[in-house]
Amino acid sequence: MLLDENYKEIRDLVKKFSDSEVAPLAMQIDHEGVIPESLVKKLGETGFLGTYIPEEYGGAGMDYLDYAIVVEELSRNCASTGVLVSAHTSLCMWPILNFGTEEQKKKFLPSLASGEKIGCFCLSEPNAGSDAGSLTTFAEDKGDHWELNGVKNWITNGKEAKTAIVFAKTKKTDDYKGISAFVVDCETEGWNIIKIEDKLGIKGSSTAQIALDKVKIPKDNLLGPPEKGFRVAMATLDGGRIGIAAQALGIAQGAFDYAINYSNERIQFGKPISALQGLQFIMADMSTKIAASRLLIYDASQRKNMKIPYSKQSAHAKLFASEAAMWVSTKAIQICGGNGYTKEYPVERFFRDAKITEIYEGTSEIQRVVIAANELKGK
Ligand code: CAA
Repeated sequence: MLLDENYKEIRDLVKKFSDSEVAPLAMQIDHEGVIPESLVKKLGETGFLGTYIPEEYGGAGMDYLDYAIVVEELSRNCASTGVLVSAHTSLCMWPILNFGTEEQKKKFLPSLASGEKIGCFCLSEPNAGSDAGSLTTFAEDKGDHWELNGVKNWITNGKEAKTAIVFAKTKKTDDYKGISAFVVDCETEGWNIIKIEDKLGIKGSSTAQIALDKVKIPKDNLLGPPEKGFRVAMATLDGGRIGIAAQALGIAQGAFDYAINYSNERIQFGKPISALQGLQFIMADMSTKIAASRLLIYDASQRKNMKIPYSKQSAHAKLFASEAAMWVSTKAIQICGGNGYTKEYPVERFFRDAKITEIYEGTSEIQRVVIAANELKGK
């Protein structure tokens, strides 16, 4: 896609950072299951942890397309690093930026935008995944504060996070109508990380289960109106899905680039395997799926920049890009053959990392629900 000079500059900047600072650590991050603090610090210093947060709140003052490019380019080398940035930005900072009061923005955004604090988003529970409205975590009004009790699951950045957006019912209902949103300091007493998941991929990204045991939340930390928290969650996920689509695109591009280089170097039957038309046709399909993913992501991002509805477009982008990443990374292993199946080569990591993009921030099936619901309403 043709980008104007400003976007090209951002791409060049983040590409250089990703190739020099992220790529050399990617295999180590996968093996050791942790992103070094020194890398997180650099992400903060470069502004990549506060891309679209306005400068008055300590951010880099960029836009939503810049952000998608940042997540894409980081994920091209390391999907764990890509999702740390994505969950922190889309799921924690954006709802504060969009639904927070001026005091809340001034209080919470600067330390998040600088990377001094990492953010997370606590919606899912052991028995509330795709059916997010059925969550049972409860925040009781204790007069001068709220008291939070419940269990939250699948919390990306859960180990590192110091600030969380937490969804809890403030009215006992069976559906989404009693849900409110809160900004919570993760160092409050009663915030207990009870499990860190051992996963197939994105090994450097922490995924936590968190028990909330009488966590005291100041009254001022209610985010948006009471009992309107489900709207906060849904609107936040509309943007989060652009971030995950960009992560998927980066994974697909990384796997594709590796497979192309490998096919030029690998000699069989007396010539590079890239000369075989059977492989060229696969490469052409990989290239097409990557290009189509990029167009959908950039379209959704530009709609968000222009403040026009993008719920359907972000679901399009996530659905298509995540399935493309799975397909492209599978084919990348096929092109690299036995070598591609080993841990000495990065394509098996891309393949393992791609799978989660079809699951978190709404499964592919949920994206289809969102797309169909929008179409049926004529949106
Ligand atoms: N923006 C704002 N509000 C929205 C909205 C949107 N995109 N979509 C729906 N809403 C509002 C509606 O207006 C309605 O509110 P009101 O009654 O106040 O008008 C309310 O939400 C309910 O709308 P629906 O009846 O359409 O919603 P539903 O109950 O049928 O559920 C769903 C829709 C799409 C299935 C939804 O439950 C959903 O998205 N589920 C998936 C949840 C998900 O993505 N979870 C991932 C968690 S995050 C994660 O992965 C962890 C991590 O750390 C990465």
